Amino acid sequence: MKYFIITIALAFGIMTSCTNAQNGSQMDTNETLENLKTRRSIRAYTDQMPAKELLEKVLEAGTYAPTGKGSQSPIIIAVTDKETRDLLSRLNAGVMGADNDPFYGAPAVLVVLADRNCPTYLYDGSLVMGNLLNAAHAVGLGSCWIHRAKEVFDSPEGKALLKDWGIEGDYEGIGNCIIGYPAQEAPAPKPRKADYVHFIE
Ligand SMILES: Cc1cc2nc3c(=O)[nH]c(=O)nc-3n(C[C@H](O)[C@H](O)[C@H](O)COP(=O)(O)O)c2cc1C
Repeated sequence: MKYFIITIALAFGIMTSCTNAQNGSQMDTNETLENLKTRRSIRAYTDQMPAKELLEKVLEAGTYAPTGKGSQSPIIIAVTDKETRDLLSRLNAGVMGADNDPFYGAPAVLVVLADRNCPTYLYDGSLVMGNLLNAAHAVGLGSCWIHRAKEVFDSPEGKALLKDWGIEGDYEGIGNCIIGYPAQEAPAPKPRKADYVHFIE
């Protein structure tokens, strides 16, 4: 009987300490939080196109971003066609009066546009961009927000592209999420500024 009680007590102790350890380790190494902290903008890519299933996972995460009143005002154009990707890169560079590749060689670009008629379109589209960037990192891909989507899709060439793609409506370009396999180590993040967070307690 004595041995039975000791055995039960030991088993209970081990179970409790395992549960505590599990909670503790979840707090210390929460995968989502770690992913948010370790995502970095990648500015060098291999030529290899990411598998469609991976892109689909990233795109799905994009569609689950919160939107004002659940409006789902953004749309995402997933460009893997090299000719179209190169054209978007040229138009983007043209906004800056440059002729380099602002997409850093990334083979694919996920263009986020949002419906200007929705009062929260800019916030909605930006959150979609955030989800895409973080989801890319979560599945082992590199990504970077490339700006000037507004200028590109407000231009006659950009408008013609939207028409070609069958997209009707008053859409504003929010951002380009370039995506692919990194050809560089993720750079170290800048230290966070001291007064980033203000607690009012
Ligand atoms: C609105 C916005 C526009 C950006 N535009 C560009 C861009 O055109 N080209 C680029 O190389 N990076 C661009 N970035 C990436 C930022 O430079 C990058 O997020 C920043 O330097 C912090 O680095 P991290 O993403 O690695 O944390 C943009 C980011 C945001 C949020």
